[in-house]
Amino acid sequence: MGRTTGHYVETNTAGEKVRAFIPSPLPPVPPVEHTPAIQELLAKADTAIRELKIASDLVTNPDYFNYAFVRKEAILSSRIEGVQATLSDLLNFEANPEHASADIQEVCNYLDALHFARKQIQDPKGLPVSLRLIKEVHKRLMRGVRGASKQPGEFRESQNWIGGTRPGTARFVPPPPTELMQCLSDLEHYLHEKDNEHPLVRIGLAHIQFETIHPFLDGNGRVGRLLIALLFEVFGLIDCRMLYLSLHFRRNQQEYYERLDSVRTSGDWEGWIQFYLSGICASSGEAITCARELFKTVEKDRRKLLGHKKTVVPAIRLFEELPKQPVLTSNQAVVLLRTTKPTAAKAIDVLIEAGILHETTGGKRNRVFGYKKYLDVLKSDVD
Ligand SMILES: Nc1ncnc2c1ncn2[C@@H]1O[C@H](COP(=O)(O)OP(=O)(O)OP(=O)(O)O)[C@@H](O)[C@H]1O
Ligand SMILES: [Mg+2]
Repeated sequence: MGRTTGHYVETNTAGEKVRAFIPSPLPPVPPVEHTPAIQELLAKADTAIRELKIASDLVTNPDYFNYAFVRKEAILSSRIEGVQATLSDLLNFEANPEHASADIQEVCNYLDALHFARKQIQDPKGLPVSLRLIKEVHKRLMRGVRGASKQPGEFRESQNWIGGTRPGTARFVPPPPTELMQCLSDLEHYLHEKDNEHPLVRIGLAHIQFETIHPFLDGNGRVGRLLIALLFEVFGLIDCRMLYLSLHFRRNQQEYYERLDSVRTSGDWEGWIQFYLSGICASSGEAITCARELFKTVEKDRRKLLGHKKTVVPAIRLFEELPKQPVLTSNQAVVLLRTTKPTAAKAIDVLIEAGILHETTGGKRNRVFGYKKYLDVLKSDVD
């Protein structure tokens, strides 16, 4: 490879002299070589993303998978940091919000941040993908106990480092604060300029550049992963809630970090792009399988419910809401059906008798019910 991707400057931090790395602006020079392996992966990724779109169009209500997938990604992305919340924790919390644990708070922050960012990019009057938007996303991600001391929504004003207990033993020292804004505005510029590179490759380049700049005191990983998803949608590839990459990064964390390092140390953009594209192929493949399984499960249960001897219209209506809300309380059923307590209770009873809903907590006052078979499909890699 042998390409240079930046230069080092000496800086003083925490009483030590260290060499901080300043990445050159994107795109790489010479450009990313489309090796036969990369060409093949790009073709495969394009096909997989197309299939994933078809899988999501299969159902009348696209919220159907989105609901599930975005929650999966939120959990997986938050978990790299060591957050332990499971999908059941999240869904139970959403059905019956009392006090959120710090883990659940972080997952909810991710959901909130993604939701906010999507609204902005879809609204003609909203923020485009920009440094402003990135800061707003960070502010939302860092809400609550753990993030409060990490300057939520603000780029850092001090030198940071990655790995090691002090700057001198760090694995990597990102750009000094004085260089930060230049690096960031170059990145912003790259995201907006027209370019003949494949959008998937551009997103991969932007991700590494963002992590190398490491503009925040904490949460750079989560913002960087959310940015990947957002760019899928901005560049017209797919709804950002459909494709989740964090599982791939988590399964291959060691390699992920090594790839980040090799871009900086030996200019190996190709190695990273190959790793990242394999992740896109694997993740879309898994998402397609999951979408199909969810679809089949719902189809089968719908038939079962329609043929059930005690079925009633409110039960059928409630069933149609379950893919969007697979865990709910009886009070929520009242709201969803816009009906009375006894009618909602009857609908739930029918769904229990048909083997569709199961009670998940024993509490008497506000019992929680779950669509178990559906949840089992979703849970395969997050619990
Ligand atoms: N050697 C490295 N060079 C560049 N970036 C790295 C390196 N090692 C890790 N990173 C990036 O830094 C992120 C961690 O940074 P930070 O702690 O600010 O983010 P986070 O969201 O709190 O953590 P996490 O990604 O672990 O959830 C990693 O996810 C990865 O993207
Ligand atoms: Mg962190």
